[in-house]
Amino acid sequence: MKIKLGVFFGGKSVEHEVSIITALQAIENMDRDKYDIVPIYITKDNRMYCGDFVSDIKQYKNIENLLRISTQVTLVQKDNKVVLLRVNKKFYEKEVYDYIDIAFPIVHGTNVEDGTLQGYLKMFNLPYVGCDVTASAIGMDKYVSKIILKENNIPVLDCKCFYKNEKIEDIIKEVEANIEYPVIVKPINLGSSVGIVVAKNRDELEEGIEDAFTYARKILIEKAIKNLREVNCSVLGDYEECSASECEELDKTADILSYEDKYMSGGKKTGGSKSHMNAGVLKLPADIPNELKDKIQDLAKKTFKVLGCNGVIRIDFLIDEDTNNVYVNEVNTIPGCLSFHLWRAAGKEYKELLNDMIELALKRNREENNMVFSFDTNVLEGYADGGLKGGKGKIN
Ligand SMILES: Nc1ncnc2c1ncn2[C@@H]1O[C@H](COP(=O)(O)OP(=O)(O)O)[C@@H](O)[C@H]1O
Ligand SMILES: [Mg+2]
Repeated sequence: MKIKLGVFFGGKSVEHEVSIITALQAIENMDRDKYDIVPIYITKDNRMYCGDFVSDIKQYKNIENLLRISTQVTLVQKDNKVVLLRVNKKFYEKEVYDYIDIAFPIVHGTNVEDGTLQGYLKMFNLPYVGCDVTASAIGMDKYVSKIILKENNIPVLDCKCFYKNEKIEDIIKEVEANIEYPVIVKPINLGSSVGIVVAKNRDELEEGIEDAFTYARKILIEKAIKNLREVNCSVLGDYEECSASECEELDKTADILSYEDKYMSGGKKTGGSKSHMNAGVLKLPADIPNELKDKIQDLAKKTFKVLGCNGVIRIDFLIDEDTNNVYVNEVNTIPGCLSFHLWRAAGKEYKELLNDMIELALKRNREENNMVFSFDTNVLEGYADGGLKGGKGKIN
């Protein structure tokens, strides 16, 4: 019997739409000889829908209609399986819509990619593809991930991190005492350049801080590199073994790559395909010397291991052309298009990449199942006589 693979996409995130594109493209490339695919669309208010239409990109022009003709489901453990139950079952319908053996989260951004969906799936003991709860959460927090990388001697730009309740004058004072203008202000956990601003002076900094706080309660401020090159590299594997993909280089069209540059330019600049998210702003392979490529691939693999990643991630690098210094900028634990183009350029077809990711998820699940998670003795038996007030046991 084929393995039932539940593909989860969408969710309450600013990158909701991008996730739909990544997921539907991945679904088209999945190995049908091995897997029966169950697409599960998560709405912006976190309801889950299945049905023939959720895998048809055209239906997303009218989401209200799509939901009307689809089936709302919820995950439940039943008879040793994880099943999808119909939420609004009609009297002639079965309660169980379908079941899944493995979950494949293809979501981007906060509230989903940050460990939220991974934790939800873990509660069902379902094997799931990609980074675990911890790695996903760390990867989403630009500050926490930097600190861990720094601790492990992986080069990152020094930064300052602030919360929304801090006084703006104090934030500006601390930034000016530690970092030279121009600086860059970023919400801690968004993607797609949302809320990111370069500030060349105090006024711009104040404006940038206020703007960033409309997107997140925590922000990060660091030096803005003036002569910047951006190179990305993907890594596939797990804690035991991993490999790095081909590198790509982003071709800037504005001060900061904007959401529009990344997703809406439709290949204008290169006349390139729309097959990946960075259409129009990419050079693949990156036009960099071999030693630099080796260095980036090596740092990418180290980053993957240090953060405890699994499956496919993409690490984005900043290169300061004035100093030739290379910095890890951020990690994407579920990269746009799952970085399939970087792997295809390295000789691995998309189907094979997806199979590898699923195998890694099964491997992790087998390993976890061999570990001890509970003890046969019931500690609460000790409380049977004395009740909760009894002095027999002590909870630390
Ligand atoms: N320190 C920096 N100096 C100059 N430009 C930067 C710096 N950090 C980020 N950028 C620019 O801003 C873009 C978005 O920042 P990034 O940290 O990658 O956030 P996101 O998660 O939104 O992609 C980058 O692709 C790059 O063009
Ligand atoms: Mg980025």
